[in-house]
Amino acid sequence: MSATETVIRYVFLGAAACFVIGLHLMNSPRTARRGNLVSAVAMGVAIVATAVLLIVDDKISVTGWIVLLAGAAVGSAAGLYMARGVEMTAMPQLVSLFNAVGGGAAALLAVDHLASVVSPRLAVTLPGGLDILIGAVTFTGSLVAAGKLQGLIPGKPLIFPGARVLNVVLGVSFVASIVWLIAVPGNPGAVAVLSLAAAVFGVTMVLPIGGADMPVVISLLNAFTGTAVAMAGFVLGEPVLIIAGALVGASGGILTKLMADAMNRSIPNIIIGGFGTGDEAVAADTESAPVRGVTADDVAIQLAYARKVTVVPGYGLAAAQAQHELAGLAELLESHGVDVSYAIHPVAGRMPGHMNVLLAEAQVPYPQLREMEEVNPDFPQIDVVLVIGANDVTNPAARRPGNPVSGMPILDVDKARSIVVIKRSMGHGYAGIDNELYTNPKTGMFFTDAKKGLLALSAAVREFAR
Ligand code: TAP
Repeated sequence: MSATETVIRYVFLGAAACFVIGLHLMNSPRTARRGNLVSAVAMGVAIVATAVLLIVDDKISVTGWIVLLAGAAVGSAAGLYMARGVEMTAMPQLVSLFNAVGGGAAALLAVDHLASVVSPRLAVTLPGGLDILIGAVTFTGSLVAAGKLQGLIPGKPLIFPGARVLNVVLGVSFVASIVWLIAVPGNPGAVAVLSLAAAVFGVTMVLPIGGADMPVVISLLNAFTGTAVAMAGFVLGEPVLIIAGALVGASGGILTKLMADAMNRSIPNIIIGGFGTGDEAVAADTESAPVRGVTADDVAIQLAYARKVTVVPGYGLAAAQAQHELAGLAELLESHGVDVSYAIHPVAGRMPGHMNVLLAEAQVPYPQLREMEEVNPDFPQIDVVLVIGANDVTNPAARRPGNPVSGMPILDVDKARSIVVIKRSMGHGYAGIDNELYTNPKTGMFFTDAKKGLLALSAAVREFAR
C-alpha cells in the first residue's frame, strides 16, 4: 500500500467516524441539523478521497472519468433541486426515491462485479448475490412506494390473481440463482435471473400493501438500502461502504421495528406482503349517517367555555403548515384560562416524531405534548378535543376486526365530551376508509383548510371574548 493510499484509508476511517457522530447528533431536534451537516461533509470528503485514490491508482480511462463526472453532476443537481423544492409533507416520497437510487446503485455494483469475477470466493459471491437481491427489491419496491404516496399508483392494496404462486416462484429463483452464482462464478446468466426476479419481487411485495402501512414500508426499504450498500462494501472490499451501509441498515431496522410496534403490525407480514388487505366492507357505512357541520363561531364558543382542550394534530396540519396558527390559538385560549394540551399519536403525520418536530418549530412547550398511552385514559375528562387534519389515527374502526386498520392503536378521541374536527372534506386518510368519528353525534365537522380554519377560530375567540 502506497503512502497516499494509507493516508486515504485514514481519511475513510475519519469519514466513517463522522457518520457515527452525525447519526448520534440526530438524536435530538436541537442538534439534528448539525448531525446532518457533519454526515454530509464526511460523505463529501469520502467522495473526494475516492477520486484521489482513483487518480493515484490510475484505474479509470478518460471515458470512465467523463461518465463518472457527468453522473456525479447530474445526480447532485437533481438531488439538490428535489431536496430544496420538496414540501415537508412530500418528504416520504422523496425518501422513497432516494432509497430507490441507493438500492439500485448498490445492486449495479454487484452486477458489474459478479458478472465478470472469475475467482470462486464465497466471501464475495454470497454478499454480491445478496446485494443484487436486496438492492433490486429496494429499487423497484421504493419506486412503487413513491408512486403510491404521490397518488400515481392507487394507494389501496392491489392484489392480482396468482400473486402468491408468483412470489414462491421468485423465492425459488433467488435461491437457485445465488447457488448457481456460487457454483459457477463470473456467470452473467445467474446475475440476470437474480436481478430480474428481485426487481419483480420489489413490485409484488409493495403493490398489495395499503396506504395505512406505507410509512412502515418506506422505513423497511430504507433499511434494505443500507444493507445492500453494506453488502456492496464486502464485494468491493471497502470498509467505508460496510460501515455507512451498516449504520443505515441498523438504524432503519430499528425505526421499522418501532413503527411496526407503534402500529401493532409485524415485520414478517410486511415482507411476505398482503397485510392491510382487510375486508373494507366491514368498515362502518358512514355515507348514509348524518354529519354535523359547524362554523368558526360555534367552535370558538365551545373552546372559550372549555376548561380542558386537547389538540390532536395530524398529517393535514403539516400539509397546511398551520403549526404557527395552532400555537397562536393555543396561546389565546390559555390567556383565557383554558388548559390546552396536545395528544401525539406515535405515527401521526407521516413518520414517528413528525408532529413533535412540527410543534417544536412553532415553540409549543414540550410538557404540553402527551403520548398516546398517557392521554388515552384522560379523554373522558376532556371538554373539547380539536382534531386538526388527523384521520386514520382517530378511527374507532381500529377496535373492530375485519378492516384495514383493525388492531392498530388509536387515540380514543371519541370518548371525549365533545369533538371538533378540522379538515377540508369527508375525504379519507392514507388507509382509504371512512372514519366513524365524523358521524359520532358528539362530533362537529369544521370543513376548511387547517390554516384558514385556525386563523378564523382565533379571530372568533378574540371577538367572542371581547
Ligand atoms: P391521515 O390519516 O393521512 O389523514 C390526514 C387528513 O388530513 C386527511 O383525511 C385530509 O382530509 C386532511 N387534510 C389534508 N390536507 C389538509 C389541509 N390542508 N387542511 C386540513 N386538513 C387536511 O393522517 P394521520 O391521522 O395523521 O395518520 C398518520 C399516518 O398513520 C397515516 O399516514 C397512516 O399511514 C398511518 N395510520 C395509522 C393508523 C393507526 S396506528 N391507527 C391507522 C391507519 C393509518 P381532507 O382531504 O378532507 O382535508
